Amino acid sequence: MRTQIGIIGAGPAGLLLAHLLHLAGIESVVLEARSRRYVEGRIRAGLLEQGTVDILTQGGVADRLHREGMVHEGLELRFDGEGHRIDLHGLTGRRVTIYGQQEVVKDLIAARLGYGGPLVFEAEDVALHGLDGERPRITWREGGEARSLDCDIVAGCDGFHGICRDSIPPGHLTVYERVYPFAWLGILAAAPPASHELIYARHARGFALATMRSPTLSRLYLQCRPDEDLAQWPDSRIWEELHRRFERRDGARQVKEGPILQKGITAMRSFVAEPMRYGRLFLAGDAAHIVPPTGAKGMNLAVADVYYLAQALEAFCRGQGMAALDGYSRRCLARIWKAQRFSWWMTAMLHRFDEADAFEHKVQLAELAYVCESRAGAMTLAENYVGLPLE
Ligand code: APR
Ligand code: PHB
Repeated sequence: MRTQIGIIGAGPAGLLLAHLLHLAGIESVVLEARSRRYVEGRIRAGLLEQGTVDILTQGGVADRLHREGMVHEGLELRFDGEGHRIDLHGLTGRRVTIYGQQEVVKDLIAARLGYGGPLVFEAEDVALHGLDGERPRITWREGGEARSLDCDIVAGCDGFHGICRDSIPPGHLTVYERVYPFAWLGILAAAPPASHELIYARHARGFALATMRSPTLSRLYLQCRPDEDLAQWPDSRIWEELHRRFERRDGARQVKEGPILQKGITAMRSFVAEPMRYGRLFLAGDAAHIVPPTGAKGMNLAVADVYYLAQALEAFCRGQGMAALDGYSRRCLARIWKAQRFSWWMTAMLHRFDEADAFEHKVQLAELAYVCESRAGAMTLAENYVGLPLE
């Protein structure tokens, strides 16, 4: 088999890249290790920057997103038992949309299959060869049978645990990393959201976030230990902890209980591998970088990467040669590091750090007060949260 662009991974990055290339008349093959059912059912974050919504809309894959997505113009920061609204729209003129990542994935898979674009699920033992030559080759096994694909370029969109980053020979990548001393315990519950907007709560017992998927589905997160055992968290303990962390001075209980449909632990890590390229392999999304979810940037960064990559590949396929791809990594990394900084800052400002002393604790509270009371402080949060421009 032969194609122009071989894409590894059918997450938001790989699927959107395949779609943008299709719109530009460029052929690709997408290889995914898991089943369709698995990738469509995997629950991840769900906040889309306006720029992300615009890219999906221009690509013609946002009809359901516009019908079912929940548009938000602000968020609440809660600390010391009091809520403070950040008016995202008033400050920036921009909005964000709540729409689950797996819904974006479902829409992109439907679009891909709708025009008969090659998309292989359950591709086993995917391996990359000849990345430093002119004709890279991808091999894999499908239902026990050996397959191979020659292509001009390989797009590594296989997430943090994929094989693409590790296919780069030692010495070519520089890794920057921070592992946080906590994780998030997340639940999906059949209960109305606590509030019509997201609540980011800083509490002496640890951070908590109240978000949603629909008017009848809540998504709630609690800061927990990185090695937390879910078996120690029966439903009653989760609800009790949520009530405490969202407590208000007036005693109002806002979190609404309902059957818990899903529970999971999310590790918290900041990670960047530079450059996002080796020979004819280009990394995009989680394959190259990870942010802690506090800034809601993971999927948005993946979308921005493939938006830039699709533009560069278009120029390459029009005959501009490999030079068309030279700026890709630099262009992505300039924006990625700003999102890294923001995600790290939000994480530091809102979480409980066990080793923090009384001084650091006071500074953390002062920072939150500054962000809420000063227009400049609120703007710093707002312009990053709604998404920095995609140049
Ligand atoms: N071969 C083929 N596919 C693979 C392999 C492999 N060896 N390893 C992993 N994959 C697949 C995964 O099963 C997954 O479907 O690659 C896909 C990568 O998708 P994501 O992990 O969703 O990564 P990405 O598309 O970059 O999207 C980033 O995902 O983790 C969230 O917060 C993150 O929202 C962000 C988004
Ligand atoms: C989510 O809706 O899952 C979500 C929203 C905002 C975040 C993290 C997760 O910062």
